[in-house]
Amino acid sequence: MNAPHVGIDAIALSVPRGYVDLAELAEARGVPPEKYLNGIGTRRMAIAGPDEDPVTLAVNAARRLFERSGASPADIGLCIVGTETAVDHSKPVAAFLHGLLGLPRACRVFEAKHACFGGTAGLLNAVDWIAAGSARGRAALVVCTDVARYPLGSSGEPTQGAGAVAMLVRQDPRLLGLEVGRTGAFARDVHDFWRPLHHKEALVDGHFSVQCYLDALAGAYDEWRRVGGEEGAPLARTCYHVPYGKMARKAHRHRRMMDGWTEQAADESFAVEVASSLVLPAQIGNVYTGSLYLALASLLDAEAKAIAGRRIGLFSYGSGCCAEFFAGTVKPEAAALVAQLEIAAPLADCERICVADYERLRAEDALTDRRPAPGSASARQTLEGRRAVYLGVDANERRVYADA
Ligand code: HMG
Repeated sequence: MNAPHVGIDAIALSVPRGYVDLAELAEARGVPPEKYLNGIGTRRMAIAGPDEDPVTLAVNAARRLFERSGASPADIGLCIVGTETAVDHSKPVAAFLHGLLGLPRACRVFEAKHACFGGTAGLLNAVDWIAAGSARGRAALVVCTDVARYPLGSSGEPTQGAGAVAMLVRQDPRLLGLEVGRTGAFARDVHDFWRPLHHKEALVDGHFSVQCYLDALAGAYDEWRRVGGEEGAPLARTCYHVPYGKMARKAHRHRRMMDGWTEQAADESFAVEVASSLVLPAQIGNVYTGSLYLALASLLDAEAKAIAGRRIGLFSYGSGCCAEFFAGTVKPEAAALVAQLEIAAPLADCERICVADYERLRAEDALTDRRPAPGSASARQTLEGRRAVYLGVDANERRVYADA
């Protein structure tokens, strides 16, 4: 039996309005700016404002996806939200999304959590749902959405970020055909990064987490090769989970050395095989579940035409940990669709906020029962003309959203 043609049909981003410039943050923290810009490998970190949260980011990315791809909410039969910064212990972000987008009643809707792996869990489940025939012609909406926070002044602070990546997954996709059933998974119980239920900020054993990531990459890549991943064309590009740019650089070296390459050859291949996937992540920071797909969006935005018909690798890592290596082929029609999607356009609206304002926002956010007055939400509009905003909680602690 021929493998079904399933994959990513369209992709769209949403980012908060504000960002902190990392050179400015370095100065405020008394760190040489080169450490953040080159040592960590990032330029900006996106900061969610009081009216922005994982729900609004997800809704705005999904609306943009529909507007730009020509798909309709009525096409969706499965909606999975990958997030590790959910807004409720019980009600999933996917339920808010179902309401705010007007998805069909006949729709399976849920949230997937496994640190940064939650988005990949959603994507691969959606692929299997379609390949199994359960979709019956419908598409899946997979949205990765997170607000990444570490304590102020901690070594993780420059690796924060926020944003959402929405993906339409369907049969005969126009962007990336995925290799159904041929993935390499790896899991291990480790405490490299965690966030106890009462914490808003993540705790991390930073250097250990880097080693866990590399060990998981080795395990997943080995398994992918064992299940026949290397059969077929070589991988022209590889997108990695990007907690910060330098991590993807380390990952690429590690993988290429597993292929028997020298360290020098591995590093020399970075500019061609990985660099274009790090352009957007360097402008936004770690978006946790969406980080791999932000890297994919960055790659397609920069190179869809050049890599049409070529095979690419994808590596997803979620602390705790679970990882998966898989591959796909960029479709010939991807370049034309990427031009229509205008993937990076949401970044053009972003505004720099100074470190003092960022610290003030964080201090205010520590008050979890904040109830902003209705109508205080920003009136800024997205390209699509509407922007979902978070208004606060009502007397029964139900979260309230509106369009600005
Ligand atoms: P640190 O310990 O402050 O930094 O934090 P460092 O001392 O290791 O330095 C970082 C790099 O900057 C080093 O380069 C230095 O040499 C270089 P490397 O040796 O790694 O190649 N450096 C400089 N370069 C130029 N000029 C200078 C300079 N000074 C130093 N003057 C750490 C680093 C990653 C530990 C920290 O940022 C952190 O804890 N981050 C959060 C955890 C994280 O991102 N881990 C990544 C793997 S786990 C993962 O990806 C999962 C995750 O996304 C969560 C999830 O799954 O849900 C995090």
